[in-house]
Amino acid sequence: MRELIDKLAAEHDLTDEEWKQLIEGEYDRSLLYAKADEIRRQKYGTDVYIRGLIEISSYCRNDCLYCGIRRSNSHAQRYRLSKEQILECCQTGYELGFRTYVMQGGEDTFFTTEYVTELVSEIKKRYPDCSVTLSLGEREKADYQAWYDAGADRYLLRHETADRLHYEKLHPAELSYDHRIQCLYDLKEIGYQVGCGFMVESPCQTVENLIADMRFLRKFQPHMVGIGPFIPHHDTPFRDKPQGSLEKTLTMVALIRLTLPQALIPSTTALGTIHPQGRELGLKAGANVVMPNLSPVSVRKQYSLYDNKICTGDEAAECIACMKRRVASAGYQIVVDRGDWRGSS
Ligand code: 5AD
Ligand code: FES
Repeated sequence: MRELIDKLAAEHDLTDEEWKQLIEGEYDRSLLYAKADEIRRQKYGTDVYIRGLIEISSYCRNDCLYCGIRRSNSHAQRYRLSKEQILECCQTGYELGFRTYVMQGGEDTFFTTEYVTELVSEIKKRYPDCSVTLSLGEREKADYQAWYDAGADRYLLRHETADRLHYEKLHPAELSYDHRIQCLYDLKEIGYQVGCGFMVESPCQTVENLIADMRFLRKFQPHMVGIGPFIPHHDTPFRDKPQGSLEKTLTMVALIRLTLPQALIPSTTALGTIHPQGRELGLKAGANVVMPNLSPVSVRKQYSLYDNKICTGDEAAECIACMKRRVASAGYQIVVDRGDWRGSS
């Protein structure tokens, strides 16, 4: 396998058969993780970037089969942060050293084009040295453009799976794979730093689907790639589906690092949820970003995409202190920096 790992590191792509071997073959994964870590250190040293995650709404008009805040989950507790609450989160975050705010929410129609435009402008006015990332789902290109013009720097929209048939198994008929991919291309064309990504071992996922994901990454060349294990939520149709594994998720993190050496790759909360050291292991397998939660503690539990989500009880200050310890224990350090993509194009 060493030859295959070296080939991927040099050429950033493989044949289907080779991908298959690295994704699901039996071999000592520590070789793969070590190579991914070596490449990450060449590009980013031991720096780990932090993004302050503000979960601005748990209302969602969509009905993704895997997601705990899907509209047909009548048990979901819904909330929406006010502008004042969001700005307070930003202030707390700034004092703690955050220079990137990620505003994420369900697809909430309350957030009109103008509303988000004003919010972004206000944050950029107060914190001109900070980067603003939006993660508000699929919108019209004109909305994305307006928010970019208002100062938004980045947009996260996971593609969820690069296989159309698989996409249709994870989503209701009214959601379209083509539209999601179109949104990603629109965002990139506008000028955003764009993040896509997928769940590992989501229901019905095959190794061919994962190969399609890797090919999509090669083609689309995102700046960021967010992945995490699928974790069932008890109030969704996928409640009885098995959780994604630690090893498969770490394998995919490392393969993404070798495929896109410059990518910003978060070690996600979902990874930390399935294993006590999941996020540390993610960093050691090639990830270089963590996203501590800046949302008010009073709403944390209500942003419940999957069961047993960690970090729902801690104030932002405790979260960042805990994260600093964890990152240091893995051999890296958190830096006060916007953490922009260090690529060439
Ligand atoms: N398990 C893991 N990740 C999930 N997401 C949504 N539901 C789940 C789940 N049950 C991820 C999706 C989405 C992101 C915000 O959270 O990939 O894009
Ligand atoms: Fe909200 Fe999927 S359930 S976007």
